[in-house]
Amino acid sequence: MRIGILTSGGDSPGMNAAIRAAVRCATAHGQEMVGIRHGYLGLINGDMIPLDNRAVGGIIERGGTFLGSARSKEFMEPDGQQRALRSIEVAGLDGLIVIGGNGSLAGARWLQENGVPTVGIPASIDNDVYGSAMAIGVDTALNTVVECLDRIRDTAISHDRAFVVEVMGRESGYIALMGGLAGGAELVLVPEFPVSLEQISEHVLAGLRKGKHHSIIVVAEGFVAAGSPRADKASGRILSDFLERTGTIETRLSILGHLQRGGSPSAFDRILASRLGNAAVHMLTDGESGVMVALSGQEVTTVLLSEIALPAKNFNPEIYDLVYEIAN
Ligand code: F6P
Repeated sequence: MRIGILTSGGDSPGMNAAIRAAVRCATAHGQEMVGIRHGYLGLINGDMIPLDNRAVGGIIERGGTFLGSARSKEFMEPDGQQRALRSIEVAGLDGLIVIGGNGSLAGARWLQENGVPTVGIPASIDNDVYGSAMAIGVDTALNTVVECLDRIRDTAISHDRAFVVEVMGRESGYIALMGGLAGGAELVLVPEFPVSLEQISEHVLAGLRKGKHHSIIVVAEGFVAAGSPRADKASGRILSDFLERTGTIETRLSILGHLQRGGSPSAFDRILASRLGNAAVHMLTDGESGVMVALSGQEVTTVLLSEIALPAKNFNPEIYDLVYEIAN
């Protein structure tokens, strides 16, 4: 078989480890691998490179994706889609592995439904892909967030301040919730549970009354305070301004931004990526496609690509309650 592999959408640490594993498993079974550069854009333009074992040496520890990524608007248009199908034919690809988040996996589903045997691998720091307990990159991003929270707490304690720390996650509160729990946050604000600015202020004041002198508030970028218009997405800025304006507590804002997406992948992400890269190749060589390889408990499993549009179930409300219980 000639198998194409691409990374698409927001990059995440561990994508390189997944490519490496896929290439090495494929060559071990006598298959040929082709790397497609910059995701669906490269597929449309036929931008491909041969990948052998040596081409993927020295990348397991590197963040990002050495194939490059893109958020291709062209691939959402019929013209781009037809060009992509032609490129696949010209390159003689018998199957495709797509590594990415929800948008990228929706593209994988489209290819499968249009005659290209395709297998998806979930990779997104947001952990919002249906059917996989963890996506590649989540663990590394969480470790980065926790390291940042530890540093921020040092200065918050020195100055008796509150810090609003805005984290990524799009519409998902997973990074905020788990990062907040591991980082000992006083408050975690997520899109899944809207609360009002007044309630947040009251919570901080209650902490001060209980003898707390500082506060770490982790807010997901997708959080919108109850009672605010949906368009008010600058969640961190709005909240820190509110706490300052109302005299609740001296407050600083820290937006962690894209530093959450970079960095050397954790051991967990390297292991997960290696297992999923291997499983994806086995699917294709066994004649199975139209699925995403995924993590269920400790096991690698598969989920139909036609199901991944369902809402992810990785946000655990019990953990949300736990954060509040132990922040007292
Ligand atoms: O989906 C991953 C993610 O990092 C989100 O958390 C964030 O909202 C978005 O990508 C940022 O995308 P971009 O890098 O295109 O600005």
